[in-house]
Amino acid sequence: MEAAEKQEISVEDEAVDKTIFRDCNKIAFYRRQKQQLSKNTTYQALLESVTTGQESTKFQIINKATKIPLLAEIYGIERNIFRLKINEEAPLKPRYEVPDVITSKLGAVRLVSCSGDAGSLILANGKGDLKCHITANPFKIDLEFKKETVLSINSLGQLYFEHLQIPQKQRATKGNEESTAADTSQENQEDLGLWEEKFGKFVDVKANGPSSVGLDFSLYGFEHLYGIPQHAESHQLKNTRDGDAYRLYNLDVYGYQIHDKMGIYGSVPYLLAHKQGRTIGIFWLNASETLVEINTEPAVEYTLTQVGPAAAKQKVGCRTDVRWMSESGIIDVFLLLGPTPSDIFKQYSYLTGTQAMPPLFSLGYHQCRWNYEDEQDVKAVDAGFDEHDIPYDVMWLDIEHTEGKKYFTWDKKRFANPKRMQELLRSKKRKLVVISDPHIKVDPDYSVYAKAKEEGFFVRTPQGGDFEGVCWPGLSSYLDFTSPKVREWYSSLFDFPVYQGSTDILFVWNDMNEPSVFRGPELTMQKNAIHYGNWEHRELHNIYGFYQQMATAEGLIKRSQGKERPFVLSRSFFAGSQKYGAVWTGDNTAEWSYLKVSIPMLLTLSISGISFCGADVGGFIGNPEPELLVRWYQAGAYQPFFRGHATMNTKRREPWLFGEEHTRLIREAIKERYTLLPYLYSLFYHAHMSSEPVMRPLWIEFPDELETFGVEDEYMLGSALLVHPVTELQAAMVDVFLPGPNEIWYDSKTFAHWKGGCTVKIPVALDTIPVFQRGGSVVPIKTTVGKSTGWMADSPYGLHIALSTKDSAVGELYLDDGHSFQYLHQKQFLHRKLSFSSSVLINRCADERGHYPSKCKVEQILVLGLQKKPSSVTTHPSDGKVQPAAFTYSARTSTLSLEKLSLNIGDDWEVHIT
Ligand code: GLC
Repeated sequence: MEAAEKQEISVEDEAVDKTIFRDCNKIAFYRRQKQQLSKNTTYQALLESVTTGQESTKFQIINKATKIPLLAEIYGIERNIFRLKINEEAPLKPRYEVPDVITSKLGAVRLVSCSGDAGSLILANGKGDLKCHITANPFKIDLEFKKETVLSINSLGQLYFEHLQIPQKQRATKGNEESTAADTSQENQEDLGLWEEKFGKFVDVKANGPSSVGLDFSLYGFEHLYGIPQHAESHQLKNTRDGDAYRLYNLDVYGYQIHDKMGIYGSVPYLLAHKQGRTIGIFWLNASETLVEINTEPAVEYTLTQVGPAAAKQKVGCRTDVRWMSESGIIDVFLLLGPTPSDIFKQYSYLTGTQAMPPLFSLGYHQCRWNYEDEQDVKAVDAGFDEHDIPYDVMWLDIEHTEGKKYFTWDKKRFANPKRMQELLRSKKRKLVVISDPHIKVDPDYSVYAKAKEEGFFVRTPQGGDFEGVCWPGLSSYLDFTSPKVREWYSSLFDFPVYQGSTDILFVWNDMNEPSVFRGPELTMQKNAIHYGNWEHRELHNIYGFYQQMATAEGLIKRSQGKERPFVLSRSFFAGSQKYGAVWTGDNTAEWSYLKVSIPMLLTLSISGISFCGADVGGFIGNPEPELLVRWYQAGAYQPFFRGHATMNTKRREPWLFGEEHTRLIREAIKERYTLLPYLYSLFYHAHMSSEPVMRPLWIEFPDELETFGVEDEYMLGSALLVHPVTELQAAMVDVFLPGPNEIWYDSKTFAHWKGGCTVKIPVALDTIPVFQRGGSVVPIKTTVGKSTGWMADSPYGLHIALSTKDSAVGELYLDDGHSFQYLHQKQFLHRKLSFSSSVLINRCADERGHYPSKCKVEQILVLGLQKKPSSVTTHPSDGKVQPAAFTYSARTSTLSLEKLSLNIGDDWEVHIT
């Protein structure tokens, strides 16, 4: 290890030092926007300038003080989406507009001017259910959807737009002293950070000067807001009135502090607001540093002077004001009008894409550590899983597997024969994931470096040289993934002949891609570094990691000639990253509070489009006590991405190192995960096809139940399972809220049941994972667990049927080959619908387009909530051969159990209970 490297690692080993990072008051554009407001500068829309085209309506807005015109464009988009763009009418040079996030050409809905007077304009869609009232002076927009004014734009007059200016020096020589910025008086210059901004020893020199934008939105009747990951914070967004705004700025924060609004690894500038009967979304498409302020004005009741009992009191609804502020770019905001949560998910994925369909193996358990030392270590850990009868799918190799942190290479001493190692894993039907970071060691003998240097593929300094910063390998340059050419080349590095020692069981992990730069400002890249198209890093900081994951995923697809689904885990992300793979919550700590906060963090990611997410099981930093480790495995088993990981100076923590009892508990948790895979895979199919998150806050499933809006210690997995992980030391009891007064919930282990709409006390032992199946659902499972998903392809299914108050239930099962794109191109899949009513279970095709020759049988059926012991049970296959089925019935738990069935999963059949 080099000295520099050691030093950097020790920097990372300390608990988070918040002085490295800026809070709002240290951010100049924030101070400028705040100061501007106190001056009450207003904008006016010039309605005489309105022009209406096929796609949009345009008009000018002027700042009444400076008179400089802005151009506003309003778009109606199909699926009840509304878009507002505001840019300078004639900027000195183009301003950055985020490319590559909006997935396709958006279908336009023409908004026509339907009325308005001299001071206002009303635009409406054809149906007339979406109306946009534009008030000229002061400029304001009210959006009405389905007869309700849902929100207003700029009703607080916080529209803020800094015009690009000629640099001061040039201005002086041109004799043009006119100021167009917020306030350029000499004494204020430094404080306002217009052309230069200092933070500690760092100076950000801004060649383009100030270019900040901002806007306010008032949401009527809404007080529950969610989204804008990533923060180690509660799921429900908090008021920021008394403290820092939520910051969206991708940063490498080792051991981040919890209940903090500072930016960590990824940013999705998308916020959801929910109330009974309505959900809306605000997607602020801007990749520069962004701050979000939230202020809820509670509902007030006041007495009217009128007499008469009916009119005596009137309630004024609550309102939440959301203010977005970005350092640069333009204002480009999509308003998603719902009205239901499921509409919102569809609208958002229409803009940014749906979750990539993961290969099945990636839903299994992943074993990671920084680092598995060498081939021998890998072999021993792999064997350990078999020895202890614990399934797992993927072995991970962190940075030390390379030669001097040069990605795409292998440390020849430790991994002399990487192919042999992969063949061993392959023989176990397992996979390998290796790390590939965006920094490239400065070393002319390293072919990746040499080629990238020669081609000019690195991010540049303002002076034109390659940007160099320190990261794991020591001095490094950073690939400019924002360039299509660089991405194409990077993708090609994953070709099998190019990536020596790689095979088709090798998949990829992109880390440090905020990007992390150890000696840089806030441990990241300086904002005036230069990217493809001459854009400053400041414009696109938050989307850098998105592009690396995109290029990696494309590389993995290309190496298989387009046949195989990729798996790529990324630490940094942006809106739309779901299209490229999974993300995780970075460097958490082995403490109970981090286990607890993982739930709201994952819920927030999930509703922001990123279903495939997880937290390091066990906590990355520190040594979890065995009880915490067990509880973390139990929680992780019911979360979308399930990986154990630990940093380098921690004690080894493979699942069998904590005594037999703890090994058993971890084994059981992991096995439960594997049992549940058919359900989980079907949920991912839904996320992929119809945009529904896999892991869901309760409010999504119970959108009219106020009690669910703030719940974040439990969640739904799909619509059928409610999970309440134990996150307290030595817990003997947990309080579980079971929503829905018309629901029944069944304990998935004891089969005890409760009517919904209450909180129940559930006694917990160390082997209890409180999971409840919702009455009315069918959950498909696997009845036997193998060494990995690969061993379970043909293993039989079971169906857990939980009856509703009406004695019925429905569910689905999706299956395909688990790894290729044949499900898409050849329709090689099975999608079955399982429904139970009037004592008959019916298995039917849910999608006639799909075909897949599965040998799998349904072998076991469990019916929960059956009140009476049946006199007979018969199976009715489509060929008509009715057969009696053996069953057992427990009157104590009201459960019927059928074993040793042999019903083809892909055939139509019925089971009759009489
Ligand atoms: C970062 C990652 C962590 C990884 C380490 C070494 O801290 O977040 O998961 O193990 O770098 O690559």
